[in-house]
Amino acid sequence: LAKVEVDLNTIPEGRNVTIKWRGKPVFIRHRTAGEIDEANAVSVAELRDPQTDSDRVQKPEWLVMLGVCTHLGCVPIGEAGDYGGWYCPCHGSHYDISGRIRKGPAPLNLEIPTYVFDENKVIIG
Ligand code: FES
Repeated sequence: LAKVEVDLNTIPEGRNVTIKWRGKPVFIRHRTAGEIDEANAVSVAELRDPQTDSDRVQKPEWLVMLGVCTHLGCVPIGEAGDYGGWYCPCHGSHYDISGRIRKGPAPLNLEIPTYVFDENKVIIG
């Protein structure tokens, strides 16, 4: 199965990149300290798909997830929506800075692929 390697040195703090893995978009965000605090400040019990931020990341500064809306599979837009994360324009799902569904029709958080860190790289797959 194909793996994809991404050099994390090329992604500045506060930026998103989208790569392709097995024909699907994968979002990588280099989160700021403020964004990590925001992700941890959310009351998990109030979430539709309850997950802590640490359930979703291996390193807090790197959020790696599939860019496929869990409603009907559109590609959400980054740095958009009401929760400081991603917005899916197809039917209006809002995801937070941890990729958790907060508002709109999507049932689940954005999916986390299998990945490992290797020094300054992340290897997806
Ligand atoms: Fe994203 Fe419907 S596909 S909200």
